[in-house]
Amino acid sequence: HAAEAHRTDLMTLTRHVLNEQSKHPESKGDFTILLSHIVLGCKFVCSAVNKAGLAKLIGLAGDTNVQGEEQKKLDVLSNEVFIKALTSSGRTCILVSEEDEEATFVDPALRGRYCVVFDPLDGSSNIDCGVSIGTIFGIYMIKDKNKVTVEDVLQPGKKMVAAGTACTGALAWVSTLQLVLSTGRGVNGFTLDPSLGEFILTHPNIKIPKKGSIYSVNEGNAKNWDEPTARYVERCKFPQDGSSPKSLRYVGSMVADVHRTLLYGGIFLYPADKKSPNGKLRVLYEVFPMSFLMEQAGGQAFTGKGRALELVPTKIHERSPIFLGSYDDVEEIKTLYAASV
Ligand code: AHG
Ligand code: MN
Ligand code: MN
Ligand code: MN
Repeated sequence: HAAEAHRTDLMTLTRHVLNEQSKHPESKGDFTILLSHIVLGCKFVCSAVNKAGLAKLIGLAGDTNVQGEEQKKLDVLSNEVFIKALTSSGRTCILVSEEDEEATFVDPALRGRYCVVFDPLDGSSNIDCGVSIGTIFGIYMIKDKNKVTVEDVLQPGKKMVAAGTACTGALAWVSTLQLVLSTGRGVNGFTLDPSLGEFILTHPNIKIPKKGSIYSVNEGNAKNWDEPTARYVERCKFPQDGSSPKSLRYVGSMVADVHRTLLYGGIFLYPADKKSPNGKLRVLYEVFPMSFLMEQAGGQAFTGKGRALELVPTKIHERSPIFLGSYDDVEEIKTLYAASV
């Protein structure tokens, strides 16, 4: 009967957010308007990726970004679309993107109360082979509308008012787009219905299993891991308590690996290693939004030193090691790091 309800009582993302907003009479719908512009960006990225093969959008843009990565044409295109969509919403004042070295300060005439940090295209190394990619975003409120500085986005992740991801997938040969969103009151999953162009609530109130049977890490970096990480992964493969070994699943797109972890349980790790002492993933627009979602779904997120959402970034492209997922699985690696100090 529940499936029937979905078919007729279409709980769209917009209706869902308006319902949420009604719990906050003080809000004037600004968040709903901001979100509708973020959703437009996500839909664009998905459609551009679908057409990429045909529209000669595959391949490199011939530039490298501040991360020192070769930018894909879709990285650049997706970034431009998000900057334009967020700016035109009239609800933002600072934008931080993986693809822009400096933060974007929105024209005062178009300024709103929100700061958006985003990774317009996550997993771009996977585009050319059709593997799942997506978008990651986090939203902060401005501290003082009349004094807008980069400090407004160098806030700990726990200050985010919302975070979400969009992730392309394929169900029965149809490419799908799943959007996962939290505004601080749990996590909800939506699936784009291309015939309506609307995101429909398909995964209400997502809760991550307390313990999982999957670990997700790039084993190719094992040579450079520190002791606690190496010991944890060893335990995944050779359990000492007689339980069966965990399965390894690693897509290489954080949005896909974290989406699976949220729904199936388990742990996703991007540890520090000798080459990159702060790991690879960026705090503002990868670590914080994913950690926010994990905590809201009953899981947890750890940097190797402490709770990920307590981190206070000092630079907009700062990186951090991250261990996130099922509560009990992350608890185990926390114990190993605590014993190593
Ligand atoms: P992006 O494509 O936005 O630069 O992010 C790529 C990230 C993340 O999606 C993924 O978890 C990680 O890179 C994979 O890194 P490795 O290839 O080193 O495992
Ligand atoms: Mn990149
Ligand atoms: Mn990314
Ligand atoms: Mn990216």
